[in-house]
Amino acid sequence: EKPKEISVLNNLYATDCYTNVTEKIASHLKKDIYLKPYHPLSLVRQRIINYFYKSFVNRRENPVFSIYENLSPVVSVSQNFDSLLIPQDHPSRSKNDCYYINQNYLLRAHMTAHQSELMQAGLNNFLMIGDVYRRDEIDRTHYPVFHQVDAVRLKTKEELFLKDEALNVFEEGNNRAFTTAQEKQACHTLEAVKLMEYELKNTLVGLAKHLFGEDVEYRWVDTYFPFTQPSWELEVYHADDWLELLGCGIVQQPILNNIGINDRIGWAFGLGLERIAMCLYKIPDIRLFWSNDSGFLNQFKTDDINKNIVYQPISQYPQCTNDISFWLPQDQEFFSNDFYEIVRCVGGDLIEQVSLIDAFTHPKTGRKSHCYRIVYRHMERTLTQSEVNAVHEKIESEVKQLGVTIR
Ligand code: PHE
Repeated sequence: EKPKEISVLNNLYATDCYTNVTEKIASHLKKDIYLKPYHPLSLVRQRIINYFYKSFVNRRENPVFSIYENLSPVVSVSQNFDSLLIPQDHPSRSKNDCYYINQNYLLRAHMTAHQSELMQAGLNNFLMIGDVYRRDEIDRTHYPVFHQVDAVRLKTKEELFLKDEALNVFEEGNNRAFTTAQEKQACHTLEAVKLMEYELKNTLVGLAKHLFGEDVEYRWVDTYFPFTQPSWELEVYHADDWLELLGCGIVQQPILNNIGINDRIGWAFGLGLERIAMCLYKIPDIRLFWSNDSGFLNQFKTDDINKNIVYQPISQYPQCTNDISFWLPQDQEFFSNDFYEIVRCVGGDLIEQVSLIDAFTHPKTGRKSHCYRIVYRHMERTLTQSEVNAVHEKIESEVKQLGVTIR
């Protein structure tokens, strides 16, 4: 049933049991909405670039960060995972979470996928900006394609300690002593890590203030990433809630050693553009970023990118709700994400949300049943019930390929 080969961005790839990119997803490649002038994602992107240009300059007052925003979203498993020390059995590698082209290639799941190759090319200060792809739930804050800004800054001993000869970046150490505290990697001296941590946190708090205002409330939360240690998340308080803004940390030294860099220590971070833009401009639904409606786009036509813009809903078109219930297969596994994928393929951007509203196991037969509520809403016009019914029926017939029985 599956074709033997698929073409992605003009390259042919052999398919295999990993292949799960759909035409719908592939249709988002090259849309480049984050680069379109005046697009809200582009406004936030440009504000972040400006902040880095102004915060880090060399002696001649030139920006030291370079920007990479045309990197191909098709990456190898080694770029997305192996080069970043992500373990073989790590859940983020799962077919259920990623869009694989085949067992060797996928649509990047994070911009960090390019970190190692750019460092290997000799770059010490850079931003990577682009579209990333993840299989996930369907609601107003999740979309299978979104956008990230990642950054790396590498420093030598001389850059870190200026002229102080007595201080070192590296020392001999046993990593085990630190696994619980996770205070630092064993190969780093405490003074090197603390200086890097200080610069990293200072930079990112400055970025949060640049975006959300001088008075923004924020907090640091310890976290874990396979490619940084220590690792933190920065949260900002916005609209009565803590918002996770970004993840960051000190680059795992083996990542650098693996590409022959033995004299530098680095920090890195990654953030999502949609979440920030939704907060800043009060955009209520992530699908709006993909809208070509001038009523949406014109609201962001400003030549002052720091201007405070509040999105005015064009009008709220009504929702249509339809439930779907089915028995799960007994002879194979069932993943909700596979169901969401079918809903996405058939319904596209008409789907506002899918939620599991009931799960039950038949007391006698042991058969499991799921009921999902699908909320349909068009972003630009009113949907008719018969239009919705036609899509719903198509979904009912397509889900049978998952081995389920409609009730
Ligand atoms: N890649 C991480 C994510 O997608 C973010 C990150 C980047 C964290 C770089 C630490 C360092 O969540």
